[in-house]
Amino acid sequence: MKAVVQRRYGSAVFGDLDVPVPGQGEVLLEVRAAGVDMGVWHLLTGKPYLLRFLGFGFRGPKSPVPGRDVAGVVKEIGPGVTGFAVGDEVFGTCEGSFAEYAVAPVSRLARKPEGISFTEAAAVPISGGTALQGLRGVQAGQRVLVLGAGGGVGSYGVQIAKALGAHVTGVCSTSKVELVRSLGADEVFDYTVADFTGTYDLILDCGGARPLSRLRGATNERGRIVLVGAETGGSITGGFQKSLGSLLLNPFSSKKFVPLMSTERADVFDELRVLIEAGSVKAAVGKVFPLSEALDAVDHVYSRRSVGKTVVTI
Ligand SMILES: NC(=O)c1ccc[n+]([C@@H]2O[C@H](COP(=O)([O-])OP(=O)(O)OC[C@H]3O[C@@H](n4cnc5c(N)ncnc54)[C@H](OP(=O)(O)O)[C@@H]3O)[C@@H](O)[C@H]2O)c1
Repeated sequence: MKAVVQRRYGSAVFGDLDVPVPGQGEVLLEVRAAGVDMGVWHLLTGKPYLLRFLGFGFRGPKSPVPGRDVAGVVKEIGPGVTGFAVGDEVFGTCEGSFAEYAVAPVSRLARKPEGISFTEAAAVPISGGTALQGLRGVQAGQRVLVLGAGGGVGSYGVQIAKALGAHVTGVCSTSKVELVRSLGADEVFDYTVADFTGTYDLILDCGGARPLSRLRGATNERGRIVLVGAETGGSITGGFQKSLGSLLLNPFSSKKFVPLMSTERADVFDELRVLIEAGSVKAAVGKVFPLSEALDAVDHVYSRRSVGKTVVTI
């Protein structure tokens, strides 16, 4: 099969590999589309170095193929799998979606939402799942601020917060303002013109550029600041120390920092499917690349040129 092949960190090529064989609890997917997010760049480069200690592979990546978000068709059922059949259209995550075929654990797959394409479905799992988990507990009428609202997680954050009945303010740079408005934000701040004002019950921080004191100052009493992630934390820890530092501040305030570690699970993807089928959430797909240009797609995301989600189609 054709695939992006990565034997060590910092080096990958478009080439050929054997079709993988599904193991216990896995299915073989004919991959139709693969979403791209910053996580793919981290696993391609092995940076921040902290991730090498977190089970992704110390000297080189555990998976010879990058790519995790996936949408495709079940081709073969592995041992112990129930509830899936050959021909099912699914979406979720796996290790190695930048390929014509990939094996995926069924614990990380859900039925593809009706009425959307494979390209749209592949744009949903990691970013949509992260936004959904970051916004747990939001009540109708609350004020939610989404920083990085035109990015992968932020674009779902705006829509899911709206679906929960919140008043949503998005913050982004100029090229993403129209997208964030179209996703339903009640207010949009272009921070290149003027930074956001106001106070909020929940801040979903997907950009990471602002100090913790600025975030806390913009939070209502008993509000929450969900730290999703940032590319501003350096190549060693990736900003882990900022998350840790935020927890040390929590005992001294009713405003709480919540460093987010999202999980990839079938039930989360199924919740997203329901929201998509109800019309509350859509995949904001930006640029689409063919599999042979998957590494350009990663660079497009890394260099912050993506507006909404970038997807690779097979
Ligand atoms: N905690 C978790 O479980 C989890 C899960 C998924 C992702 N993440 C992390 O969360 C972060 C956001 O993910 P994403 O997929 O939404 O990324 P993304 O698509 O790149 O969006 C991030 C947005 O943040 C803004 N931004 C502001 N300053 C930035 C900077 N210095 N570098 C890069 N972007 C900056 C950018 O918008 P403007 O150009 O408008 O400023 C960008 O659109 C990433 O660091 C990712 O690794 C964490």
